[in-house]
Amino acid sequence: MCGIVGFTGARDAAPVLLQGLERLEYRGYDSAGIAVFHDGAIQVEKVSGRIAGLREKTDNGAGAPGAAGIGHTRWATHGAPTDQNAHPHLSNDGRFAVVHNGIIENYLALRQELMDYGYVFHSETDTETIVHLLEHYYNGDLKAAVMKTAARLEGSYALGILCTETPGVLYAVREASPLILGVGVGENYFASDVTALVAHTKNVMYLDDGELARLTADSVTVYNCAGQEVQKPVSRVTWSVEAAEKGGYAHFMLKEIMEQPAAVKAALAPRIQGGRVQMDDFDLEAKELRDVRKIIITACGSAYYAGCSARYAIEKLCRIPVQVELASELRYCDPMVDEHTLVLVVSQSGETADTIAALKECRNRGAKVIGIVNVVGSTIAKLSDHVLYTFAGPEIAVATTKGYTTQLVVLYLFALYAASKLGRIGMERYDALVKELQQLPQKIQQAIDMNWQLPRLAGRYASPSLFFIGRNTDYAVALEGALKMKEISYLHAESYAAGELKHGTIALIGENQPVIAVCCNEALMDKTLSNIVEVKARGAKVLALAVKGNKTIVSQADDVIFIPRVETLFSPAVAVVPLQLLAYYTAREKGCDIDKPRNLAKSVTVE
Ligand code: M6R
Repeated sequence: MCGIVGFTGARDAAPVLLQGLERLEYRGYDSAGIAVFHDGAIQVEKVSGRIAGLREKTDNGAGAPGAAGIGHTRWATHGAPTDQNAHPHLSNDGRFAVVHNGIIENYLALRQELMDYGYVFHSETDTETIVHLLEHYYNGDLKAAVMKTAARLEGSYALGILCTETPGVLYAVREASPLILGVGVGENYFASDVTALVAHTKNVMYLDDGELARLTADSVTVYNCAGQEVQKPVSRVTWSVEAAEKGGYAHFMLKEIMEQPAAVKAALAPRIQGGRVQMDDFDLEAKELRDVRKIIITACGSAYYAGCSARYAIEKLCRIPVQVELASELRYCDPMVDEHTLVLVVSQSGETADTIAALKECRNRGAKVIGIVNVVGSTIAKLSDHVLYTFAGPEIAVATTKGYTTQLVVLYLFALYAASKLGRIGMERYDALVKELQQLPQKIQQAIDMNWQLPRLAGRYASPSLFFIGRNTDYAVALEGALKMKEISYLHAESYAAGELKHGTIALIGENQPVIAVCCNEALMDKTLSNIVEVKARGAKVLALAVKGNKTIVSQADDVIFIPRVETLFSPAVAVVPLQLLAYYTAREKGCDIDKPRNLAKSVTVE
């Protein structure tokens, strides 16, 4: 939520900042701004709305010259998305500018204290307290002022700081919000995410909580919270610039849907060698696994739904009870977690605040944590005992697609790995399932290819309210399908376990009510079919999602979309793809802003 970027070098900062903000726009997009140091003063430009407006206002940056600057794209928390509330914020004396990602929890007390000292506030934001604190504590030593300010802040923050007293110098501070330093030649950078940096450098340093960095054109120095210099390793980013661009597709979401065969292959390939699942990234001994009495999968949104799907595979193959918990609930429910609990924490961004809090809660109670994460070096990756990266590459669209399918695949790999270590799976079944996993990329591709009629069906089924139903693995797919529909097309979509309809919800089914029935779990097909018949008897219009060749479904549903036959336990990774496309085409038909849906942001770093 919110993206920040900073640049110092020998060329103008504004074009670099604008380009960086465009890459970060998925993190928040209700207002944006930059601050650039030039001729002894800080020039601030900000607009409510998108980065395009900021480009226009600054004449693509030409209107804001200067070789050091900071920028921000906002997802409003404190105060409406207005020009005044947009970052950067300026101190009363004009010597400091600050950009901030996160939330300052004690801002009301700080605001009152600063107003009592005589500082005048121009915005409703929590962030403005930071810039006044800097002015308050500055006595010629910027680093000392930054440290004193940080020590007063409670909550989460990634800060970028510019000061007229130190030309060419930027400060960056991190506490519980992502912040990465880019190390260039004769110029240096910071950003919330590597996607903003890869166009300039692939050499990065990951700041840890409590650390601050001083950047000049020629140097990057990192300090701990006590002000002592720390040596940070420089890591090499593998993501390319092209990977973070649309590459000819109308939207990132469509590009990312189409990238799924390759992304799933990237998640699988390094971990299947000689027909066996190998987890080079971590090694859990059979004894450690035997000590596990239950597995908790915790996550938010689609990552939670990935857990709901994978639970069936893990329980079936490992015979260990699996509890899937929303991270935002788990943290407050006094969870029954101890050293015999294995916690799988699933997150594309690795920065979701609720998921991080749930992870910490479980660790504090003695659980071992495996992070299943896409973004390398993210907070969840750092806090986990072991990390399994999903290798999806950068995911820019707010609605996750390849992030979700790669999470599923990694969870399936884990299920097979653990089942084999525990000796709970026969060789023949194991070999068959490994082969099934290896075929997932091509089956996802087939699911894309065979559904050319989806744009037409999207028009036919678009309605103010839709139902998604299914049983078992199909229910998990229905959950994700309905979420995709809601978030990008703004249509109300309700996901229901098909067998539950008759316990109340069927009262809502009337003439022409669209029902999307997921029927890919062939063992339960007859049961779901009865539910289809029940809703049809009440006038519903049914679009079924089934395995190719299923003639019974064709005879009962109004329309059918197919996927190739796939092992039931792994079928969600294929079945979800036509539903992603259905949501995409529905949103396109409605003219929605598909990559940046209203009220949302990619990385949810607030509670
Ligand atoms: O980065 P994470 O996987 O932790 O994000 C969790 C959810 O916020 C995320 O999956 C969200 O539900 C997506 N926008 C859904 O498409």
